[in-house]
Amino acid sequence: MLSSCNSNFEPTAEKQWWKETVFYEIYMPSFKDSNGDGYSDFKGMTNKLDYIESLGVKGIWLTPFFKSPKVDNGYDISDYLQVDETYGNLDDFNTFITEAHKRDIKVIIDIVVNHTSTDHRWFQESRKSKDNPYRDYYIWEDQANNWESFFGGKAWEYDSLTSQCYYHKFAIEMADLNWQNPKVLEEVQDVFRFWLDLGVDGFRLDVINFLTTEGITLDNPMDENGKQKHIYDLDQKGVKQAMKTIKETINEYDNRFIVGEIGSDKIEVLKQYQGKELLDVVFNFNFGSIPEFSAQRLFDELQSMESNMSNYPTLFFGSHDMPRLHSRLAEENPNRAYALAVLMLTAKGVPFIYFGEEIGMKNHIANSFDEIRDVQGVTNYHLAIEEGKTAEEALIIGNKHNRDKSRSPMQWNTDTLAGFSSSKSWIPLNPDYETLNVAIQENDLESMLSKYKQLIALRNSEPALQYGDYEKLSIQDDCIHFIRTYNDEKINVLINFGKPMVFDLPENANILLGTPMLQTDDLLIFILSQTKP
Ligand code: NOJ
Repeated sequence: MLSSCNSNFEPTAEKQWWKETVFYEIYMPSFKDSNGDGYSDFKGMTNKLDYIESLGVKGIWLTPFFKSPKVDNGYDISDYLQVDETYGNLDDFNTFITEAHKRDIKVIIDIVVNHTSTDHRWFQESRKSKDNPYRDYYIWEDQANNWESFFGGKAWEYDSLTSQCYYHKFAIEMADLNWQNPKVLEEVQDVFRFWLDLGVDGFRLDVINFLTTEGITLDNPMDENGKQKHIYDLDQKGVKQAMKTIKETINEYDNRFIVGEIGSDKIEVLKQYQGKELLDVVFNFNFGSIPEFSAQRLFDELQSMESNMSNYPTLFFGSHDMPRLHSRLAEENPNRAYALAVLMLTAKGVPFIYFGEEIGMKNHIANSFDEIRDVQGVTNYHLAIEEGKTAEEALIIGNKHNRDKSRSPMQWNTDTLAGFSSSKSWIPLNPDYETLNVAIQENDLESMLSKYKQLIALRNSEPALQYGDYEKLSIQDDCIHFIRTYNDEKINVLINFGKPMVFDLPENANILLGTPMLQTDDLLIFILSQTKP
């Protein structure tokens, strides 16, 4: 049924660059290799800034590029102040930032302060003895409780050197920092200042509600299906205060932005971390967690963001942690993939495009255990084998958890040697790279890439698509319709996932995209009344 919806939004008038920005996520290992070692690097990425500029995106999110053994592709940092040599060095990073800024593109970087690699100097010191000055940088206990690792299995590892075990919410090689220790906060503040001094425009804070600020408490209870409920290990009381201090540190610099990854699909949990003194926005997985296509579900999530989040939501269908939009929700139908992109780029919130979405890249599937690179896929495969599953069954389980699906290298052109070589890249290129790539799509006005560019240009040029509140938000027969209003501008967006239909277009409508003859997976965007300020 058509229904209108009252806005629950903070006043939109407050201008912020990030409210006007379409972001583009670059998964560091997979974007552009310049030296043929099979990993992307800053030199290669700098050469592709013209491409990024041509998309119209004004912000880049870089996943971690700091020194790391890469057990979890950089989310296991062993030195916060160095660029991993695979990606280049600090000069290469500086060139990247300078060149991005010249093109009016901001750069935010992903910082992981919940844990470090066990190769980090702090951990290496910490494990030496119980009275080492770095001992309390991490969480050591005589006895493990029942908390589980997010990657599967126990969250504790016994270390025979001091006969205690340390806490690791993720892989064994990723030890959690002890946020009860004020020195940890001081170290982290210095890390933020180091990168702010180098000109980064903001941060993505990795799993920031996982910080252990209260210490280790009770065992988590189990639910009726025998799954652990994360009652005591997440969202501990001091997390908000830690965020406030991080925000104060970042506010020592002008005009910076923070987006936090909150590990929760509960909007009540997410929204408590957003606000002036806290995070600017959080990654709410409303669209990201939809397992299979449903127009009604998309609409429900849109409405849930509108009625529950007091600030800007974020809008994304893909990331390095989830299967690709094109395979998951679009089911390899390019028209639907485009219609979903229209939704993401015209709805209210901050959009994050995942690299390769703009050319319709598909999931990468591992055919055997040897092809799985992701630590989460590998861990779950081994756990299944330990539980007595056959190799075939274990592969299915490993693949289910395997995040490599969205991590295969960017498909630039057919010349494998000029970019990623299939034989050398850290993960194989998708086999369709010869027919599905940027070079082919750049010269085709009907391609997904051209359509994305057109859409981003539209969003960039219409303040109502950046700041507008919803005057209407409705669904009828699987056709989502919303009107976004800002000053005298009223932009109507219709995205039809249902049967073909003809929309009765008002007389004074100025069509921006599409026609009133809406096919399935088709769109129409028009302005009803417009008086530009
Ligand atoms: C969230 C990141 O997005 C994911 O890729 C990583 O494995 C975990 N945090 C651990 O840092």
